Amino acid sequence: MAVDPAPRDLHFSDRPRMETEVPGPRSRELLGRQADLEANTVAYPRALPVAMDAARGATIRDVDGNVYLDFFGGIGVANVGHSNPYVLEGARDQLETLAHTVDFPSEPRLAFLEALDRIAPGTLPGNSRIAFGGPTGTNAVEASIKLAKYNTGRNGLLSFERGYHGGTAGALSLSGWSSYKSDYEPMLPDVVHVPYPRPAGQRSETDETLEDVLSEVRSVLRGEDPPAGVWVEPVQGSGGVVVPPGGFLAGLAEITDEYGALLVVDEIQTGMGRTGEWFACDHSGVTPDAVTVGKAVGGIGLPLSATVYREELDTWGPSAHAGTFRGHLPAMVAGTRAIEYIEAHDLLDRAAELGRYLRDRLRECGRRCPFVSDVRGRGLLVGAEFRDRDGAPYSSFVEEVQARCLDRGVIVWTAGIEGHVLRLLPPLVMTDEQARVGMDVVADVVDDLAAEVTDGADVPPRGG
Ligand SMILES: Cc1ncc(COP(=O)(O)O)c(C=O)c1O
Repeated sequence: MAVDPAPRDLHFSDRPRMETEVPGPRSRELLGRQADLEANTVAYPRALPVAMDAARGATIRDVDGNVYLDFFGGIGVANVGHSNPYVLEGARDQLETLAHTVDFPSEPRLAFLEALDRIAPGTLPGNSRIAFGGPTGTNAVEASIKLAKYNTGRNGLLSFERGYHGGTAGALSLSGWSSYKSDYEPMLPDVVHVPYPRPAGQRSETDETLEDVLSEVRSVLRGEDPPAGVWVEPVQGSGGVVVPPGGFLAGLAEITDEYGALLVVDEIQTGMGRTGEWFACDHSGVTPDAVTVGKAVGGIGLPLSATVYREELDTWGPSAHAGTFRGHLPAMVAGTRAIEYIEAHDLLDRAAELGRYLRDRLRECGRRCPFVSDVRGRGLLVGAEFRDRDGAPYSSFVEEVQARCLDRGVIVWTAGIEGHVLRLLPPLVMTDEQARVGMDVVADVVDDLAAEVTDGADVPPRGG
């Protein structure tokens, strides 16, 4: 069957089309109705105040008819593009045929298991087991915690400062963001966080080197009460798009192997082709003991997550990790079709190529703007860090860049605990023209704002 349409034919348009100011009148109305009904936990529309109507490929249309270029990708979900027809057709057919099966076998379930096993990192293909529990990434992380505890008989966990692993108790305990956790302490006991290493050029004087970090991990693992496993993002996404120095994952693999702990690589944000390989740990050649996947694995934003691990670890029993929605069939079909679409259109290479272009454009911008302190990333997980004249994180600048880009029809996102990193994670199907037009807008906005504040002025308040 033809894996159509081609990436260039997936979108509403190649450039933004703005019909109203942002937010337009219909968006304002929907935002108001939402605020009257939904919890105060709603977060994304605070930064991007629009109500969405439809999305295609790397474009989103709001309820006022404005069309935006999407460098946000549903926070790393829409790798094959919003409403990709090839993926949508399979999911829709499956929805009409059979949707919910708990974990009974079916052809679509097996096709997905085979596809995920086939693309799994390192030596996992043909040697993996795949567990499903609940539909979100955080659930896959919870499964991996139980897997590690069960297999090692140990209790403690080790993860990294500024890492993000999800919002439920175990995954949140692993996360290294104190602001997300402080109101809910105590969380899981015996969780140790160590610094996440940065490459030489990005380290401050107080940051630890790769060797320091690895020796800290080693000393925790050879301690009296060693942890069950080490959880790590191969590139820290939400924590600021931090690419660790080469040798980090290999070093962790060596240490966990030596001390009998599991190495769990959290690929929820970096997986499914985002960094130019199926999984970011593929860049290092390391085979983790377990990998968590979520976000883009459900193809077109259908909720699905999974924990993929070495088959020798499959020692636990039925319902050891359970959930009513343990693998939703339409999402699984969408996942299989997304894998086929990525393969048919060489989207791994495309992610690498487009990512280089976005970083080049941001670096060019940084040659003019004194506040761009670093540009980094891997494939289509791209970050530009902003610091003010005193070297402090410049989140007000990044927030204003995001707001002005939105006004001009380009949706970008942020990262970092301080919110001072501009994060771009567009669909892998974005066209050259969309990337060029979008980056022209980002560059213009950064140039204009930098010119307004270089004379010492503060970033102007919104509307000011
Ligand atoms: C690396 C990583 N792990 C886990 C999660 C949690 O996934 P979810 O929000 O789907 O529960 C996220 C979400 O951003 C993530 O980026």
